Amino acid sequence: MNLFQTDRPLSWQACLACGEEMVETDPRTRCPCGGLLEVRHRVPSATGDALRRFLDGRLGYAGPLAASGVWRFRELVMPGIGSEEIVSHPEGLTPLLSRAAVSRWAGVPTLRLKHEGHNPTGSFKDRGMTVAVTQAVRTGARAVACASTGNTAASLAAYAAQAGLPAYVLMPAGKVAMGKLAQTIAYGARTIAVRGDFDACLRLLEAVAPASGVYLANSVNPYRVEGQKTIVFDLLQQMGWEPPDWIVLPAGNLGNTAAFGKALEEARGWGLIDRMPRVAAIQAEGAAPFAAGFDEGFATRHRVQAETVATAIRIGDPASWDRGVRTIRLTDGVVARVSDAEILAAKAVIDRAGVGCEPASAASVAGVRKLVANGTIPPGASVVAVLTGHVLKDPEILLRTAASGGPVEVDATEDAIRRALMQEAPGN
Ligand code: F0G
Repeated sequence: MNLFQTDRPLSWQACLACGEEMVETDPRTRCPCGGLLEVRHRVPSATGDALRRFLDGRLGYAGPLAASGVWRFRELVMPGIGSEEIVSHPEGLTPLLSRAAVSRWAGVPTLRLKHEGHNPTGSFKDRGMTVAVTQAVRTGARAVACASTGNTAASLAAYAAQAGLPAYVLMPAGKVAMGKLAQTIAYGARTIAVRGDFDACLRLLEAVAPASGVYLANSVNPYRVEGQKTIVFDLLQQMGWEPPDWIVLPAGNLGNTAAFGKALEEARGWGLIDRMPRVAAIQAEGAAPFAAGFDEGFATRHRVQAETVATAIRIGDPASWDRGVRTIRLTDGVVARVSDAEILAAKAVIDRAGVGCEPASAASVAGVRKLVANGTIPPGASVVAVLTGHVLKDPEILLRTAASGGPVEVDATEDAIRRALMQEAPGN
């Protein structure tokens, strides 16, 4: 339906001071008289009820549950749940992006980026947490708790606040990115900084939680996995149920790797897709027990003392090991490792494309580049890389790796500003 049956310009600019009119494309941002400009539009041919219907017809969903990229799939996630029991922000419905600069760098022209940093607390964890906290309320938990490298904590804190449940989070002291810590505190969780690593936090919490009556919201909890499956459902739907050849994701505790395998198995079993994409799980070199396992056909379970700049995946003893192995076997997948330098190089390209992500997320794109270079992924393949967290999660890393160019401080003079406007940002 065309709302404008006229050949005359549909928009123009008008000065609020002198009434002078200017064409829509006039680049001046003030009227020559000094007055402020306003953009004006022609009245559409449909108004009132007809315009309301026209606008409503564009809504992709109706009602609060369909507005969630998790609960939109509730029949495949938690079919028995009553809508009034659901604790939803909403979440999900994250964009699938194509950016030429990132594709070029990775070496795959049809690379797509599923940006889970667009979730309400800025990471994919919200998809699992809406389901886990719904389940906590449903089962009458007195409180909820998690061990976390930061994102799970922020997400749990937000959903627990919404549900009115106390939340306790255990995080490795001094090893959590600032954005995540700030969020967790803001949402009101009891934040416990443990003198140990993530693996110790999870081990200790699992030992103590059941007898303390708190509900464990880590991805060992199967309801977290159910929610995180919807990353895959969401991206398959966005691609018209035509699966990509590869789905590439960063891997730490392996909750997401587990969820992806389950989602793909169900999607194929239920006839949503007829072909299985291959999953590539990417680990940081200094935190790569799963990659070590893959190299020897998963003959033994590996544990390492983890260290990486990507603090989100600084995990040496992944809890969902067996479920992760299952995903790799089911999808004929691979596990690869990338160095911190490769992670930061990928992050710089993603950031400069105006997309942005936290370091752990960039491991997926660094992984694509590596797997193309070693011939595992053909350049002609259709590839989706999952970006798991928002650029603002880890602001310190940007300031520490200042090749990206911090602010230039100048005098408050016209001359200084004139000179500054002629200079390009480093790296452009
Ligand atoms: N990317 C980000 C941004 C993460 O926060 C995590 C995990 C991962 C990737 C790895 O996912 O553990 O399912 O293999 N973060 C957890 C946390 C450990 O506590 O926030 P995984």
